Amino acid sequence: MAKATNGAGPCRPTPTHSHEGIRLMNIEIGKLAPGLARCPADSAQDIIARDKVQAPDWVRSESYAFLGSADIDTRRYTDPEFARDEYRKLWTRTWQFACREEHVPNVGDYYVYDIGAYSFIVTRVAQDDIRAYFNACLHRGTKLRASGTEGCASEFKCPFHGWSWNLDGTNRNITCQWDFPHVDPREFSLPQARVAILGGFVWINMDPDAPELVDYLGPEALAHMQAWALERRYIHLHVQKSFPANWKLTVEAFLEAYHVIETHPQVAVSNADANSQYDIYGDHVNRFISLLGVCSPHLAGQYTEQDVLDQFTVGDGTMLDADRPRVGDGTARQVMADLFRAMFEQATKTDLSRVSDSEMLDCFSYTIFPNTYLFPGISLPMVYRFRPDPKDHRRCIFEVMFLRPVPVPGERPAPADIVVLTDAQSFTEAEGMDPGFGRILDQDTDNLHAQQEGVEASAKGGLTLGNYQEIRVRHFERAVDKYMSMAPYRPDIDTLRR
Ligand code: FES
Ligand SMILES: [Fe+2]
Repeated sequence: MAKATNGAGPCRPTPTHSHEGIRLMNIEIGKLAPGLARCPADSAQDIIARDKVQAPDWVRSESYAFLGSADIDTRRYTDPEFARDEYRKLWTRTWQFACREEHVPNVGDYYVYDIGAYSFIVTRVAQDDIRAYFNACLHRGTKLRASGTEGCASEFKCPFHGWSWNLDGTNRNITCQWDFPHVDPREFSLPQARVAILGGFVWINMDPDAPELVDYLGPEALAHMQAWALERRYIHLHVQKSFPANWKLTVEAFLEAYHVIETHPQVAVSNADANSQYDIYGDHVNRFISLLGVCSPHLAGQYTEQDVLDQFTVGDGTMLDADRPRVGDGTARQVMADLFRAMFEQATKTDLSRVSDSEMLDCFSYTIFPNTYLFPGISLPMVYRFRPDPKDHRRCIFEVMFLRPVPVPGERPAPADIVVLTDAQSFTEAEGMDPGFGRILDQDTDNLHAQQEGVEASAKGGLTLGNYQEIRVRHFERAVDKYMSMAPYRPDIDTLRR
């Protein structure tokens, strides 16, 4: 991707920061009711309101609520029994992104999605009909398609004894049917999970009693998603790597910008971290808006607007001084928005003149519980997916997908093949990965390793969260609690046929 790197170049000042200034300013603010205190700097909405190309309503709104200050019990990250319970209560009842529609563009195309021991063949049965079959033979249980595979099929035939099913899930063949007088082929269709299509994503849910996806998201979050039209994008780059921590710790590592100043100081000069905005929507969706092109409040007064702009544009330090974009009388943020618009218009062959400066620049991070992150912005147009490693509750399978607009006019490009990195590899080694962003993910990986070990070693046994900046962590864990308080649900063929 042609995005300018956020990495600190050798010719720029090294960020230094002091938490003391903000601590002193917060003495007064700390007297407010819990949850009302905010970083004493311009808010994200203040800054967005000054932009030249105005942001849409879904950007210009806030939806925070205080949810308490109690510690989060660390047992949920360390206890294998808790992880086993999640498979029975949480993963069997929640909506999960299984694949993109462009993974199965034609009738007969299929894509295998696994969550824990569960496995699904997501397949297009007709132009407007995508189904998700439980990936197990109804004879003696053999997996019909191997995990991690995709392709095109006219039937799903079991490799063991050759029983087979039509694309529509009806039974096609029972080998030596004379020996199975007790099997009525009409009763032996492949069981299905529920499927919903939204934003070009194929979502599945094993629970027949779960709310519809649109109700699960709620009206406000649904309206946001519909405004993004992510169905008009495609996967340009798809990278997978295992993180050395429980899946919930891993999800939470990306839910706040609070850690940026300490973990990713190289981006703080041009990233408004402490005044990021946090919102929650119903039980299953939350978001933050983290602004780019403005300096971290932790570094207030240390950098000029030109310094902030240089963070983005100078890159590896090889740019000639004469070529450096200048702020002039404007702001780094405005110059960046204009530069990004021109750069992405050229890269994607699309007209972005009416896309707001905020959408061009800022990081919008939405979490759809339990394990999908959507980033609908233009500069960081990503999807994250987190799945527990079924063999080790201390590990998480992480995927990042970069979405690009489908060229207009033009054919929809095929989705990128997945690049799987080993534990020893850096994210920067994935071909096409922005090196600055790959470095950020490597820094998060190091943290997760230390955090998993720390929660195992902890005598405190609880995570203490900030009321505002870590509200998404609390909101996420509240949803975990909601599902973990439910009775176990194991998909069974009779319930699924109802
Ligand atoms: S296990 Fe599938 S045909 Fe026998
Ligand atoms: Fe991070």
